[in-house]
Amino acid sequence: MIDSFEEPVADNPVLTVNDLHVNFSSFDGLHQVVDGVNLSVGNSEVVAIAGETGCGKSVTVKSILGLLQEPPAQISGTIKFDGKDLRQLSEKKVRQMKGTQISMVYQDPMSSLNPVFTIGEQLTDTAQFGSTETVRKIDYIKKKYFERQSRQQAREKVINMLREVQMPDPERIMKNYPSQLSGGMCQRAMIAQALLNEPDLLIADELGTALDVTIHDEILGLLQDLAIQRNLSILMITHNLGAARQISDRVYIMYGGQIVETGSTENIFNHPAHPYTQGLMSSVPKLSGDEMAEGIDGSVPEYLNPPSGCRFHPRCPYAHDKCRTEQPDAYATGSNEANNCFLYDNEHQSPYDEPTVEKTKNMNESIKSSERRKK
Ligand SMILES: Nc1ncnc2c1ncn2[C@@H]1O[C@H](COP(=O)(O)OP(=O)(O)OP(=O)(O)O)[C@@H](O)[C@H]1O
Ligand code: SF4
Ligand SMILES: [Mg+2]
Repeated sequence: MIDSFEEPVADNPVLTVNDLHVNFSSFDGLHQVVDGVNLSVGNSEVVAIAGETGCGKSVTVKSILGLLQEPPAQISGTIKFDGKDLRQLSEKKVRQMKGTQISMVYQDPMSSLNPVFTIGEQLTDTAQFGSTETVRKIDYIKKKYFERQSRQQAREKVINMLREVQMPDPERIMKNYPSQLSGGMCQRAMIAQALLNEPDLLIADELGTALDVTIHDEILGLLQDLAIQRNLSILMITHNLGAARQISDRVYIMYGGQIVETGSTENIFNHPAHPYTQGLMSSVPKLSGDEMAEGIDGSVPEYLNPPSGCRFHPRCPYAHDKCRTEQPDAYATGSNEANNCFLYDNEHQSPYDEPTVEKTKNMNESIKSSERRKK
């Protein structure tokens, strides 16, 4: 444990998010989904946000990109990209930045690719105009149909980009509609589209997780190569710990709309400190041996009335009185690593010692078997 502590921040950050809160108002009340998230992505750094389904990863990145409708969303906090506060810029300026300086790729090709246009047509539009949303209709028609040279240059750029993402036979692919491509090819086309205007930051939400394992690995390998070749910063969102481990430099572990642990990928995977991270790690099925993954009992909290104190306390085997009433701060567990858990606070008055993966796994399993006995 380290006494004095500053929140870990990337060197030369391209993106910094401070104290981000996202609530959704509804008829039944306020859903407090993202609660005080701080994160940063450095220049040429690959950063992962990992956590179970429903823990607020996509809401976090959507709020960074201004993709949430306000209302019902209520967003507060600072989101700085390249030193500029995105929440203070005009909508038009943010739309211009999207696709040119910041790009996003989604898990679902239908969110990025339009099923009624060929790959060639839509990617050439992106190469020629950046974001077509910000171009006046008259300029779009003039440039697309009457400026042959610039259209041809954009086409060549697309073919080169498709080659860079290792798409076989780019000229033929240009003539295809998204429905004529496999899932892996669609993902490559989406990555190509996202990189056409040479953004500084690529945000990838669950990229490739719907594909089979081999193709998913290939897509991750491709992202890693592109990050190195293009000095690209990547913020990847995943519920797949293996994916985070495979390509990220740093990881944020998210639970119930909060970052509960952060540090270098190597340290987080070799020495996870937070009981939630340890529970996640012990849930990953092992390829060798006949051990079954037990998982963490229970599910992510509801956001309408989130648990008091530490949001993880209803599922935590180490929960004690303080956890039920007070929220833990970020405590240092190493250089540039932090962990929001009272087991690491400076006074350490909890009845438990610092947890280990093995201890957490055993405690989770004994809770589960006593639950089973009760039923
Ligand atoms: N527009 C909305 N209004 C109300 N609640 C919302 C809205 N959008 C998302 N949520 C809630 O926010 C929570 C977090 O959702 P989010 O999509 O960020 O999860 P996630 O971590 O990305 O999960 P997954 O791994 O399944 O993609 C969910 O409980 C979801 O129901
Ligand atoms: S603060 Fe308490 S409930 Fe939360 S993770 Fe730590 S021990 Fe568990
Ligand atoms: Mg999501």
